[in-house]
Formats: sequence, structure tokens, C-alpha cells
Amino acid sequence: MKICILPGDGIGPEIMAQALRVLDALRADGLAIETEQALIGGAAVDATGSPLPDATLKIARESDAVLLAAVGGPQYDVLPREQRPERGLLGIRKGLDAFANLRPALLYEELASASSLKPEIVAGLDILIIRELTGDIYFGEPRGIAMRHGERVGINTMVYSESEIRRIAHVAFKAAMKRGRKLCSVDKMNVLEATQLWRDVVIEVGAEYPEVALSHMLVDNAAMQLVRNPKQFDVMVTGNMFGDILSDEASMLTGSIGMLPSASLDESGKGLYEPIHGSAPDIAGKGLANPLAMILSVAMMLRYSLNREDAALRIESAVKKVLAQGYRTGDIWTAGTNKVGTKEMGDAVLAAL
Ligand code: IPM
Ligand code: MG
Repeated sequence: MKICILPGDGIGPEIMAQALRVLDALRADGLAIETEQALIGGAAVDATGSPLPDATLKIARESDAVLLAAVGGPQYDVLPREQRPERGLLGIRKGLDAFANLRPALLYEELASASSLKPEIVAGLDILIIRELTGDIYFGEPRGIAMRHGERVGINTMVYSESEIRRIAHVAFKAAMKRGRKLCSVDKMNVLEATQLWRDVVIEVGAEYPEVALSHMLVDNAAMQLVRNPKQFDVMVTGNMFGDILSDEASMLTGSIGMLPSASLDESGKGLYEPIHGSAPDIAGKGLANPLAMILSVAMMLRYSLNREDAALRIESAVKKVLAQGYRTGDIWTAGTNKVGTKEMGDAVLAAL
């Protein structure tokens, strides 16, 4: 198995270093993998002028799975849009056709008090957000800033084709079948035609999954319900932009955005694995970042692309163990626990492994 490693920018290289130590430990125990590192994001812009060099996409396509840390930084915000790090990220998602983004929001019980919500609201929380990742307003045309009637107008287009909705709906129903058989589809059909189609197609696909209890929620209400009573949700499915926003919101229920991994799968199950958080330029290079979302992304990779549920569980229980032992990076620290940096957290995970 070959894995493409994309450390990217900001805290990316620091958290990826810890994930690589975990991979090394598994390799020492017989996991047959080789890795190849490539450039993406600002690091790629600096070296080649492009946030997604052709060579990177080629290596990613030839690999069995791709592990990505994070991209972006304030120094790149002045570049033309096509050279910005985020374009590299969107480009690799699109280039791999990684349309199904699975973002589990799982509360580790040790972190209940790190959540900004009351422990009883979040205890036992286990939601899977499925975000469509290669369509919607992120990619819709026309887009840009143009002149109209003597002033600038900003334009983006929310667009979903029936086939795009259908394929993500199937992923969501199948995931629900493996979990609590409850699926909530999130849209804004009271205002947006694109999401009226979304709802219609999800209902059509739902006819093939009679055992799944399907419900629908408008996105504003979903945002509210996530903090009011998050445990009402099992699987949620939504478009690219709503999924971006709701998954950040859901991450805080679990204590920190630094805890949430994700998998982005194509039609054949090949995947791109990345934490849901960004490059955190404010703490980059300081050894403070939480590496757990990155390490948990390795677990997701083992589960979904490498078919090694055993190794995935081993990593996840190591993470549970270090939390039970009281190790905390700054983002999840609460009084009485042991504050550590990125590398010490990696040490603890390796020891627990
Ligand atoms: C995410 C991020 C990205 C997104 C950014 C960095 C382009 O917020 O993965 O959620 O909007 O998809
Ligand atoms: Mg986001």
C-alpha cells in the first residue's frame, strides 16, 4: 500500500510528524505501507508557484490513500485566488473525485468538560456528518467579481445536479444503515431551488432504504438544534457549504476542533484523510498544536482505505487512553489535567499504542 503524505502549511508539518510516527510504529508491527511526500498549499506555492503542482496530483492519484494535514496562511491571502493554498485543497478534492466527506463528531467522555456545552447535553454524543465535497457554491460557475452598472458585484453560484445529490445520498443512507438508521438531510428549501432539488432527490433515494428513518431540516434550524439537543442526530447529510459550517459547529460539541478527523471518499472508496481544522497560523511552529485529529485521520484511513479495522481501533483506543491519562494540548486543557505540546502528545499516543 502506498500513502501520499501532504503536510502543507502552518501547524500541518508538526501534526503530520506525529501521524508519521504512528505509521512508523504500525509498520514496525508489520503493516506493509510505503509513503511518498509531496507539496500542497502555500508550501507548494513557495516552491513551484502552484498550490497543487501536477506532480502532487499524480502521486496522489497513484497512491492507495492520501493523508493531508492543513493548508493556508495569512501571507498567501494577497495572492491571486488561483494561487491561494485553499485552491490546492479544493483542487485535490476535485482531482481525486473525493465527493463524500465523512466527519464524525464523537465525544470522548474525558473531554465532556472541555466542551462549551453542559456535559449532560454532549455526553455520549456520536454524530456522523456527511458533507458533499466536490460541488455546490464552492465550485459553481459563474463566479468572480465583476462590474455591473458601474459598481463591483461578487458572484458565486450554488448548483447541484441530480447525479451529484444521488451519489452522496446513497453514501449517507448506507452509513445510516451501519449505525442508528436515522438520517437527517439538511437544506434550505424554503429559499433555494438548488436545495429543493436536494430534498426531492434525497427523498427519491430514500425509497431504496425503507429501514432508515429519514428526516429533513432547514440549515438554520439544524445549526440551532446542534447546540440545543445534539444527541437527536445520528447521521446528517448536507451540501458542501452547509457541511463546512455545521461540521465546525459540531466539532465544538466534542471539546475542540483539534479532535476531529475526516475521510473524503471517491466512488470506489479511495480516500483523502485530513483533520477538519485548518493550518492555525497563530500557533504554527510553536509545538502547541493538537495532533489528535491528524492521528485519528490515520485511523480513518486504516479503516476505510486499507481495510485494517484492527489497526484503526488500536489507534483510537490509544487516543482514548492518553485522554484518560490526563494528557491535554492547550485547546482541550481543563484545570487538573496535564498540559502538553504536540510532540509530548505524540509520545503519549505512541506509548499507549
Ligand atoms: C474545511 C476547510 C476548507 C473548506 C477550507 C480550508 C478551504 O474549512 O475542510 O472544512 O472550506 O472546505
Ligand atoms: Mg471548514
